[in-house]
Amino acid sequence: MDQSLAVAAPSTTRERFVLHRALAAPASTFAEDVRRGLSASPKFLLPHYFYDALGSALFSAICELPEYYVTRAEDEILRTKATEIAAAFGPNVRLAELGSGSARKTRHLIEAILDRQPSLDFFPIDVDAGILTSSSRELLNAYADLSISAICGDFRDPAALLRPYLPPSDARTVVLFLGSSIGNLDPAAAGAMLANLRTALAPGDALLLGADLRKSPSILEPAYDDALGVTAAFNRNLLVRINRELGGTFDLASFDHRAFYNAAEGRIEMHLVSKIAQRVLIDGYEIAFEEGESIHTENSHKYDVATLAALAAAGNFRVERRWTDSNAYFADLLFVAE
Ligand code: SAH
Ligand code: AVI
Repeated sequence: MDQSLAVAAPSTTRERFVLHRALAAPASTFAEDVRRGLSASPKFLLPHYFYDALGSALFSAICELPEYYVTRAEDEILRTKATEIAAAFGPNVRLAELGSGSARKTRHLIEAILDRQPSLDFFPIDVDAGILTSSSRELLNAYADLSISAICGDFRDPAALLRPYLPPSDARTVVLFLGSSIGNLDPAAAGAMLANLRTALAPGDALLLGADLRKSPSILEPAYDDALGVTAAFNRNLLVRINRELGGTFDLASFDHRAFYNAAEGRIEMHLVSKIAQRVLIDGYEIAFEEGESIHTENSHKYDVATLAALAAAGNFRVERRWTDSNAYFADLLFVAE
């Protein structure tokens, strides 16, 4: 159900902003997903639950860490190639963005597009309504020729978010999926998601996909296990959220953060590992942990030419362009809907 509303904003921006909430009837609730994941063997939690207000703030801090090269590498691409990328988008575009977060890197593209056309409609999509609202307000204050329809929802079913909220238009729809968020889905789910996205696009519409490239574990592992412990806090925040929202009794100090590169799967895995045998109560039911037992909290897949080509094919897109940073750590690819 749609619960559109115009949030309080300075009068100069009010008419240019609407927020749609598409999460009124999610397929499953946080409580159900936690119970299902912690009752499974091995135990798991879904990574989109990282992003409550504190989780989004911790992710912003991760982006500043010396070890987390991902954001800087993509920022370099979008900053130095913005004009070229905007030219590849063409003369009359509108932008949607899946998992837009702070949308800081998006600014490079917005500026380059506004150099080519008089105005721009932007449709940021995120599960965290707080960051959607704050990032939209900052963008509207920075760009007078921008209009924003923000959509709070789960990007794993992108067609369900784009179809109702993107009105018919002559403009080419360009969807951004930056930061290698695609890598948080398993390859089959990632392919299915792109195929689902494709059904909401017209032939010739495009997807700019950010993908973290395979590299040495000596670079990958510290990016997910930093010296300051910010990523560990981001990971443990899932337990904080379960304690606060579901009446959980997790003792944070009895779970270790663990992150390692699984070369066979081509992915970083993050886990929370119970240091002791223990029982945790969540809203009246009990979850038992053995000493050393883990909760698998996130995968972050890393790509190469072959896996990216497979992804494009699974989604019914063709790869038209590819841009990389100077270290060849990260790639942004222009996928065009067939
Ligand atoms: N695109 C930004 C932010 C990446 S962090 C960048 O490149 O830096 C991932 C973002 O996606 C967060 O803002 C998070 O709230 C959002 N997110 C994660 N899983 C999601 C899901 N299933 N549906 C919608 N948003 C999601
Ligand atoms: C949002 N996503 C692409 C990040 C990543 O790199 O997989 C999330 C993250 N997890 C730990 N650090 C960053």
